[in-house]
Amino acid sequence: MPTTQQQASMHAVNLAQKASLIDQHWSPRVVAEMNDYQFKVVRIEGEFIWHSHPETDEAFFVIEGKLRIDLPQGSIYVAPGELYVVPRGVAHRTAAEGEAKLMIIEPGGILNTGHEGGERTADNDVWI
Ligand code: NI
Repeated sequence: MPTTQQQASMHAVNLAQKASLIDQHWSPRVVAEMNDYQFKVVRIEGEFIWHSHPETDEAFFVIEGKLRIDLPQGSIYVAPGELYVVPRGVAHRTAAEGEAKLMIIEPGGILNTGHEGGERTADNDVWI
């Protein structure tokens, strides 16, 4: 029995180019999906809020700039081409001096503010 097949895309996703299309900071945009997961790009500057995601790990890949991730034990710095995974349930706060462009990998439906909510919660599932 043949299984359902989706049409293959005929172009690669250029992360830097997608990030350049985003017009505001802290507004993740979906660029691809894999099974239940989404790949999102985001431009950040300054500090976000402390939050956690009780239901999932969250991966950050730096495209450009330098990402700081504040964790309960201290801060770690993530450079372009580097990846860091925040384990589920661990409190974190992302930050960048100047601007940084990131890719976030996590299941669909996860909010940027996690369990905290509030005014910095971005619209979810917006593609670019
Ligand atoms: Ni998070």
